[in-house]
Amino acid sequence: MAPAPDHAAPAAPRRLAVLGAGYVGLTTAAGFAHAGHRVRVGEADARRLAALQAGESPITEPGLAALVAAGVAAGRLEFCADNAAAAADAEAVFVAVPTPEGAGGRVDLSFVMAALAAVAAVVGPSTPLVIKSSVPPGTAARLTAFLRELGCAAPVVVNPEFLQEGRAVQDVLHPYRVVVGSDDRDAAALVAGLHEPFGAPVVIGGAASAELAKYAANAYLATRLTFVNAIAHLAEAVGADAGDVLVALSLDPRVGPHYLRPGPGYGGSCFPKDVRALVAAAGDHGHDLKLLRAVVETNDDQLDRVAAKVRTAAGGLQGKVVGLLGLAFKGGTADTRSSPAVALAERLTAAGASVQAYDPAARVDLPGVVLVPDAVAAAAGADVLLVATEWEEFAALEPAALAAVMRGRAVVDARNLLDRDAVEAAGLEYRGLGR
Ligand SMILES: NC(=O)c1ccc[n+]([C@@H]2O[C@H](COP(=O)([O-])OP(=O)(O)OC[C@H]3O[C@@H](n4cnc5c(N)ncnc54)[C@H](O)[C@@H]3O)[C@@H](O)[C@H]2O)c1
Repeated sequence: MAPAPDHAAPAAPRRLAVLGAGYVGLTTAAGFAHAGHRVRVGEADARRLAALQAGESPITEPGLAALVAAGVAAGRLEFCADNAAAAADAEAVFVAVPTPEGAGGRVDLSFVMAALAAVAAVVGPSTPLVIKSSVPPGTAARLTAFLRELGCAAPVVVNPEFLQEGRAVQDVLHPYRVVVGSDDRDAAALVAGLHEPFGAPVVIGGAASAELAKYAANAYLATRLTFVNAIAHLAEAVGADAGDVLVALSLDPRVGPHYLRPGPGYGGSCFPKDVRALVAAAGDHGHDLKLLRAVVETNDDQLDRVAAKVRTAAGGLQGKVVGLLGLAFKGGTADTRSSPAVALAERLTAAGASVQAYDPAARVDLPGVVLVPDAVAAAAGADVLLVATEWEEFAALEPAALAAVMRGRAVVDARNLLDRDAVEAAGLEYRGLGR
């Protein structure tokens, strides 16, 4: 996907800083540069920084390398190791560093605090410190207290990111909505104004609302995916076809067609940690989020169900060869963080199988897993073929070419991606989810 055509230049181009050049930070920075702002990015990882300074995008995202290159060429995007230098003359400082899972499922804010501490002494008293990283309700208040202890009077603004990997550039340049939360109205207005060129509806409110809006979105999507998997599981038990059931469901406009495909369970760098962090944050407020606890548990079960399907299909796993199609947590990205495909590979090798894996973009280094250059090589000699990531190129595979090289006949399609009739016509046994 190429970057979108030029936006109208913003009325007042601003000097911005972005701390963290990952999926969110780099795309945000390049998007703001594209919109006419001048952006300096602070990045702590020396290798990532070196790649960026050499003109390479360290992240695989459609259109991102071109957007970054255009920003650099226009003199509106630059990278450095020093957060304080990046933030020194900025009119707003965006924090886009990791917020991983910490003890008890609670969010680990140490990266955010380190980034804020690095700039606390150089930012002006009214310069918004904008939290792009996903943080649970109550965090802005906590970070504000932290900054005051450091003698920094700058306001904290929560501006969560909703981009999806695989379409990050599209989502940053054409967001469905921009959410801004702060107890400081001027700071919130400034941050909202920066997004004007993107033309999205802006929701401005308090900090806790913005924080909860992000977690509510991820928790809803994770719940929806888990619901779909539960229906698919039930469909198998009662002799229904989940495909038919879900098409019928999707045609109800109150439900809609998105996020209705069964899979090996939600994964990735956000849903698992964010759902657990919301449960933990709710618990800290004396609120038991039973619904989401059930979602977490049901999602964990889903991996076991898919692994059991592979075991049954292969007639046991000890000494068997599994051809694995996909390693990324979803199609269109190289990201393997909390990837169900990787978790499945680990379960299968732990049960004695050897795995030969192919992914168009993602790479892993796992004992018992050999990476091969294409899908046919993954199928070669395999007792069972497992589709674990919904890459479009897997849907276009020629089943006869796979059947010709496999040792066994079983195909487990944990994404319901392949054409069942075509797979069976090639003499293979198709096992999807909910079918
Ligand atoms: N990846 C997504 O799809 C996505 C979507 C929405 C929100 N988020 C949230 O955005 C945040 C960032 O996620 P990501 O996927 O971009 O992470 P990432 O790991 O891709 O990038 C984070 C970057 O921050 C850098 N970093 C860490 N500490 C730093 C510091 N003190 N100063 C400067 N740089 C520092 C890291 O080296 C890394 O390059 C997280 O809170 C995540 O939950 C992610």
